[in-house]
Amino acid sequence: PAITFVSFEGASRTVQAPVGATAMEVAVRNGVPGIDADCGGACACATCHVYVDEAWRAAVGEPEGMEEDMLDFATDVRPSSRLSCQIKITEALDGLVLHTPERQG
Ligand code: FES
Repeated sequence: PAITFVSFEGASRTVQAPVGATAMEVAVRNGVPGIDADCGGACACATCHVYVDEAWRAAVGEPEGMEEDMLDFATDVRPSSRLSCQIKITEALDGLVLHTPERQG
């Protein structure tokens, strides 16, 4: 599936993502700026914070449990906020658009 990351400045970058990877892993592997992922995907740092594009919010779903708690530590949290290490790539997410925040943490 193709995933597009859009920076806060509006620069967009589309990369191919393997099914089963997380959006955070895809960003890090492709050198997409704006995602720090200090904890390496353990849902323990909130520095992989992204905003899910409005058109994709239903498909991606809402944060739950541990992720929701950890999002309290992210900066400028909005209703579309998710931690990208908790978004698993599926075929249904082909074309997904994620916006990276101005800063992490
Ligand atoms: Fe740390 Fe996602 S990488 S919470």
